[in-house]
Amino acid sequence: MRMVDIIAKKRDGGELSQEEIEFFITGYTNGEIPDYQASALAMAIYFQDMNDDERASLTMAMVESGDQIDLSAIDGIKVDKHSTGGVGDTTTLVLAPLVAALGVPVAKMSGRGLGHTGGTIDKLEAVEGFHVEITEDEFTRLVNEHKVAVIGQSGNLTPADKKLYALRDVTGTVNSIPLIASSIMSKKIAAGADAIVLDVKTGAGAFMKTDEDAERLARAMVKIGNNVGRRTMAIISDMSQPLGFAIGNALEVQEAIETLRGEGPEDLTELVLTLGSQMVVLGGKADNLDAARVKLQQVIANGAALEKFRDFLVNQGGDGSVVDDVSKLPQAAYTIEVPAQAGGVVSRIVADEIGVASMLLGAGRATKEDTIDLAVGLMLRKKVGDKVEAGESLVTIYANREDVADVKQKIYDNIEISAHADAPTLIHTIITE
Ligand code: URA
Ligand code: CA
Repeated sequence: MRMVDIIAKKRDGGELSQEEIEFFITGYTNGEIPDYQASALAMAIYFQDMNDDERASLTMAMVESGDQIDLSAIDGIKVDKHSTGGVGDTTTLVLAPLVAALGVPVAKMSGRGLGHTGGTIDKLEAVEGFHVEITEDEFTRLVNEHKVAVIGQSGNLTPADKKLYALRDVTGTVNSIPLIASSIMSKKIAAGADAIVLDVKTGAGAFMKTDEDAERLARAMVKIGNNVGRRTMAIISDMSQPLGFAIGNALEVQEAIETLRGEGPEDLTELVLTLGSQMVVLGGKADNLDAARVKLQQVIANGAALEKFRDFLVNQGGDGSVVDDVSKLPQAAYTIEVPAQAGGVVSRIVADEIGVASMLLGAGRATKEDTIDLAVGLMLRKKVGDKVEAGESLVTIYANREDVADVKQKIYDNIEISAHADAPTLIHTIITE
C-alpha cells in the first residue's frame, strides 16, 4: 500500500477501506508517514468528507494506536460523559456523585484543564486533602464499592489523535466533522467507556458556534459510537453565556454542592438532570429518560446525592465536611462587586470573554506550566434575561489582588444591558440514536 494512492483516492471522493485507514494511522503514529502526506490526506478529508464506515474505522484505528484502559474489573455498564467544553462548566462535579447515587459506576479518568478554569481534578483539589494519585487497584475497588472515583490521566492514550490534532491545528483542517468526531470518540473509547453521553455546546463560548454545526457533530459522534458497539446519546446545549453562576475552581465546587443539595442555579440543574437521565438509561438503571429524571430528583431531594459526594471526597483523602460548610474551601482575600452602569435587562454575557476575565485573576492556565489560584474567580449575579437596576451588582469578583481594573473592564465590555431580552433556551436538542 502506498500513502500517495490513499491521498489521491480521497482527493477524488473515493471511500477508504478499513485497511487503508489503519495503514495511514499506524504509519503516521510510528513516524513512517511524514507530516506532509498526513496533512494532504486531512485536507482531502476536509473537502470530501467520510462516510459512516470510514468514520468508524478511523475512530477505532486511533483507539488502537495506543494504550486502552481496561475497566472490565469494574462491575456494570461504565458510562462516560464528554462535554465539548464551555465556561464555568461545573457539570462533571455534580453528575459524578449524582448518577453514582443511583448505582451507575463512574470511573473517571481526568486531566488538568488548559482553559478559563481548571479541569475536574484541579477543581476537586480545592477540597483540602483530595488527591487523584491512587493505584489502579484502589481505583477499581473504589468504583466497585462506592460507584465513583477519579484517577489522573495515565498511559499513552490515542497517540495518533495527539499527533493528528496538532497537525490539523496548523494546516487549517481542525474544522472537519469526521475528523473532530473521530478525535473525540477515540479518546472516550480508549479510556474504557462502554457507553457515552455527549454534551455538545453551541454559542459564543463553544467550539461549535452554530446550532447546525453542533447538531451535525453530535449526530456524527452518536453514529460512530453506536456503530462501534458503544451506546451513545447526545444533547446540544447553550453556551452563549456561562453555565451556572460560578466560574473558578473553589467557587464551582461550592456551586456543585449547592446543586447536589437542590439549591443550585436553574440552568446547571436542568443540564445535569438532562445529561444524568441519559447516563442512567445507558447505565441500565432506568427504562426511559423520564423515569431516570424522577430517580435523579429523588436522590437530590433525599440527600443521597450530596452524601455520595461527601463519600467520594473522603475516599480520596478529602475533607468531607466542606459539604456542610463551604467556607472551608479556599477563600479569596478580596470580594469586589461590579455594579451595572445602567438599568434594563441583561441581554448578553459573552461566555468565552467572561472566562478570560476569570483567567486574568488566576483561575485558569494560559500554559501547561502555570499554577492555578483555586480561590479566585467570578460569581455572576445576573444572567441573560434578568432585570437589573443601575448600581446593582452584575458580578462579584473573588480576587487575591486588590486592583482588578483590568478584570472589571473585561466584564463591562462583555455584558450588555438592553431594554428587552429573553433568557436563552438551554437544551436545544436531545439525540438518543
Ligand atoms: N476536540 C477534540 O478533542 N478533537 C478535535 O478534533 C476537536 C476538538
Ligand atoms: Ca458554573
